[in-house]
Amino acid sequence: MTAITTDAASAKDRVVIFDTTLRDGEQCPGASMTYEEKLEVAELLEEMGVDVIEAGFPIASQGDFEAVQEIARRAGPDVTIAGLARAISGDISRAAEAVRVAKRPRIHTFVSTSPIHLAHQMKKSEEQVLDIIAATVAQARNLVEDVEWSAMDATRTPIEYLIRCVDAAIKAGATTINLPDTVGYAVPDEYAAMFRAVIERVPNSDKAIFSTHCHDDLGLAVANSLAGVAGGARQIECTINGLGERAGNAALEEIVMAIRTRGDVLPYATGVETTMLTRASKLISAVSAFPVQYNKAIVGRNAFSHESGIHQDGMLKNAETYEIMTPESVGVKATSLVMGKHSGRHAFREKLKDLGYELGDNALEDAFKRFKDLADRKKHVYDEDIEALVGDEVATASE
Ligand code: KIV
Ligand code: ZN
Repeated sequence: MTAITTDAASAKDRVVIFDTTLRDGEQCPGASMTYEEKLEVAELLEEMGVDVIEAGFPIASQGDFEAVQEIARRAGPDVTIAGLARAISGDISRAAEAVRVAKRPRIHTFVSTSPIHLAHQMKKSEEQVLDIIAATVAQARNLVEDVEWSAMDATRTPIEYLIRCVDAAIKAGATTINLPDTVGYAVPDEYAAMFRAVIERVPNSDKAIFSTHCHDDLGLAVANSLAGVAGGARQIECTINGLGERAGNAALEEIVMAIRTRGDVLPYATGVETTMLTRASKLISAVSAFPVQYNKAIVGRNAFSHESGIHQDGMLKNAETYEIMTPESVGVKATSLVMGKHSGRHAFREKLKDLGYELGDNALEDAFKRFKDLADRKKHVYDEDIEALVGDEVATASE
């Protein structure tokens, strides 16, 4: 566990942020990125203060190999570059070849551990998988110092067997142990309990950092990730905008802002510069061609917009009435009060002021009535609509 040095974080446990947008995120159907796009994304993630960038799956294609290698070559001393490898000798040596030029290279190797995967996908016995773990982790550890091992489908693996697998991986030299909720099946208490049991019962568990990796099939990926940390994990694997297979992965921006906003109950710290989150979200949306839903937490375009009269009135008096974080803290310039049929007089008057109009009480009342009529007929009321309304009002008043 690494301690960070800023005052705000000094009393808190540092959580390693492992971004897998370029690997698990890119596995999302239709989200593949070009070589140049991958380099641009990696550069931004590094600038933003992500601790580990999983740059790709080097054995998957020559293009993936070259992108991982170039990201590794360009990376500075503060970021770890990971390459994914199945529990296959050729995968591991290819991943090592791609990441070894990094100042901090990591091989991330994984194998399934759940009965359903062993029976149907791998067609191997539990004992055979234990041997595979020992051999492949040892191979990786001979190639790089930093080796992450993942128990694919950990959350559907009987705990006794999972403990034996983790023990084997640590004995073979794994420095990070990832227990993924591969199919997004877990609920928070259960996920936390799994980490507690494994950390408590594996003899050398203090030799490794434990990691979460959650998919969002039940919409619980972020909650599960935070529960995993409560259970003892100190690395979270996540992606920008929650991009990823099926319903996606845990969203980096949500995790980082939950930790920042609720330090009272989540006493952890990350190294991520949160004011870059919106920029990162826009870049990922553009390169993956995946739009961000309007009401997405943190980075959706409605995340700092208010339409109802009651909320707008509160916001004009004190922003903390309806905002738990500032828009600036995630890189959004300002809150927006959207003018619509739910807006009240107070917000309407402020909007007019912003547009450069000061109306007397009667003219304002008249304009407000006309605005409400328009808002009933029209879904979106833009600044130009209001200007047109008030333009009429001003003209009528001066006739
Ligand atoms: O979801 C998963 O189990 C994975 C592994 C490769 C870590 O993505
Ligand atoms: Zn995954």
